[in-house]
Parts: sequence; structure tokens; C-alpha cells
Amino acid sequence: MKLVGVSGALAGEKTSAAVGSVLAAARLLDSSIETEMIDLREYEIEFAAGLPLAAYNEDTWNAVKKIQSADFLVFGTPIYQASLTGALKNLFDHMPEHAFRNKVTGMVATGQTEKHFLVLEYHLGSILSYLKGLIPTDNVFILNDAFDIETDELMDQRILERIRKLAEEMIQLQYGIMNRG
Ligand SMILES: Cc1cc2nc3c(=O)[nH]c(=O)nc-3n(C[C@H](O)[C@H](O)[C@H](O)COP(=O)(O)O)c2cc1C
Repeated sequence: MKLVGVSGALAGEKTSAAVGSVLAAARLLDSSIETEMIDLREYEIEFAAGLPLAAYNEDTWNAVKKIQSADFLVFGTPIYQASLTGALKNLFDHMPEHAFRNKVTGMVATGQTEKHFLVLEYHLGSILSYLKGLIPTDNVFILNDAFDIETDELMDQRILERIRKLAEEMIQLQYGIMNRG
């Protein structure tokens, strides 16, 4: 079973660290799970303009294909202006409708203020639902002070436990979908 993580930040380290922690937790829980990270800092994704995928550059093509090859996915975004990043929304604009049918789609976010914790449900979640992703009951919102100020490593044990629980729920749900017959 393949789990792909997508980090929707173009600059900082925290979102990538958070998504990487979900992938690591999943591998620890189930060693048969293969993981791959799509870190948008490493991709030149073109702006979606409603053209066929073949009209875009190789990075755009590769990112979309990797996402489509996943059995299940976890998306991470820093909160930007009380929403997800434009970079992540642009990637979703490249996806076909129903792209996430029969796929669990988990969510993590990093942010400066806890006032924006519902952004995951109201903004990112509604896009994943539109694309037919199955959203776990748990998601993880991480305030900046949960990260080491020097290294941006995730230090908060309660957050790491919530990440472990999210990974566990995602795995259980995905096996449930696949064993439905
Ligand atoms: C353009 C911009 C807008 C932001 N808007 C918000 C916001 O509305 N709410 C919030 O809690 N944090 C906001 N932040 C802070 C980031 O979400 C936060 O620092 C995040 O952890 C950065 O993640 P990164 O290290 O992966 O880039 C904003 C940061 C930037 C650069």
C-alpha cells in the first residue's frame, strides 16, 4: 500500500516536517507501507489553466501522476491568510474530478495562531471532499511553537501522538476501503 505525502509550502520547513512525521509514523505502524513525499519546494508546478495535463511541464506532470499512483494521501499546508496555500490549491486545480475516490486523504496544518485551526475542515477538507477523498475524523493543527526554534524539528510529544493517531486511523480506513470487495 502506498502513502503519498504532499507538503504545500514553498519556503519554510515546518509543513514538510509535519507531513514527513505522518509518513514516518505510518511506516512504524505498518512496515509494508511504502511512502513518498511530494514537497512543493522541489517542484515547479505551472499554474492550472484548464489545459490537458500533457500541456504542462514535467514537474507538473510528475506531481499529478505521483498523486494518482497513491493508494492514500496526507496533505499538509501552512495556514496562509486563514486558508491553504495558493500553491497547494493550484496543484488541486490540476487534478481530475473524483481524483481521490476510494482514497483516504488526511490533513495536517501549521500556523501562527490557533484561531485558524478550523481552516483544515472548512477549506482544505471541502476541496478534498469535492475530489471524493475520504477524510479521517482526526486531523492535526500544529502551532509554530511545537517546533524547535533552531531546527524546525517537531518537539511536542502531544502533537507527535496526534500524528501517530492520525496515521493509524488513515491506515485502518484505507484497509477498510480496499477490503470492501
Ligand atoms: C503569507 C503568509 C500568510 C500567513 N497567514 C497566516 C494565517 O492566516 N494564520 C496563521 O495562523 N498563520 C499564518 N502564517 C504563518 C504560517 O502559517 C506559519 O508560520 C507556518 O508554520 C509556516 O510553515 P512553513 O515553515 O512550512 O512555511 C502566514 C505566513 C505567511 C508567509
